[in-house]
Amino acid sequence: MKYFTSVNDIGPLDIAIQEAMRTKKEKFSDSNLGKNHTALLIFFNSSLRTRLSTQKAAENLGMNVIVLDVQQGAWNLETRKGVIMDGDKPEHLLEAIPVMGCYADIIGVRSFARFESKEEDYGEVILNQFIRYSGKPVISLESATRHPLQSFADHITIEEYKTVEKPRVVLTWAPHPKALPQAVPNSFAEWMVAAGYHLTIAHPQGYELDERFTRGAVITYDQEEAFRGADFIYAKNWAAYRDPDYGRILSTDRSWTVDSKKMELTNNARFMHCLPVRRNMIVTDEVLDGPRSIVIPQAANREIATQVVLRRILKDLP
Ligand code: CP
Repeated sequence: MKYFTSVNDIGPLDIAIQEAMRTKKEKFSDSNLGKNHTALLIFFNSSLRTRLSTQKAAENLGMNVIVLDVQQGAWNLETRKGVIMDGDKPEHLLEAIPVMGCYADIIGVRSFARFESKEEDYGEVILNQFIRYSGKPVISLESATRHPLQSFADHITIEEYKTVEKPRVVLTWAPHPKALPQAVPNSFAEWMVAAGYHLTIAHPQGYELDERFTRGAVITYDQEEAFRGADFIYAKNWAAYRDPDYGRILSTDRSWTVDSKKMELTNNARFMHCLPVRRNMIVTDEVLDGPRSIVIPQAANREIATQVVLRRILKDLP
């Protein structure tokens, strides 16, 4: 493996899940594999889980880790090609990326959608420049359109908690005061369909996601109907995808907040969220703190998912 940017890079999912379960039992069995190798983790946006779990996974494999917060201490980076650099950005990504590649064996990049241009966001301009110009293996730590390490961890978690072979999984939109990218729901949808689960996506009208990610899922505007008989409820907010509303908040309707009454409609479903979560906007305290919530083991699996990916890349290094 040289790149990890989507479910398409991981190969057969049953093999990946077996590897994850083995990793969970024997976290340190490859602690020499990454010796004298460096993971450079570049964050254009904030992070708690991704930063810590990626660092931990790399260290479990014996790697050295450098974390760079682009907004704090690095030169302000120009990302557009062909511009006259007479503004406040003294360095261009076109030099910065190959320079970073000199110091790293594997590069992780977090770069959210900016909601300035749908073409730029969905063209994955930043991530693709790292792939093109760094000369090193690149993993997505959440890009403009996908969060594959999160989805892999979600898949591991569902495999651990499911009680039927092909569970009924519901991805539900929930309200949030800020416009959030579609990366988590996009990635979750395509990963769940690839896993062969029964996926239903519930959201208010106007929140339709890009069909390239949701193909194979049932889409509904009726949240309660979606919840009936569900085995897993995965809540997430996202901003509108479709034009002319791309990146906009169309609703903060709190009747979409996940609460105990709605959870009673389910097949005693487990509650999931990628975190960070806005309490009593996305989900009530009662559900989040209740016995069916698995958000903490879900977050713990971020380390496992990342370790599987890093190990595969390390094994394939020239
Ligand atoms: N779920 C997730 O990616 O969390 P962070 O944004 O804190 O990394």
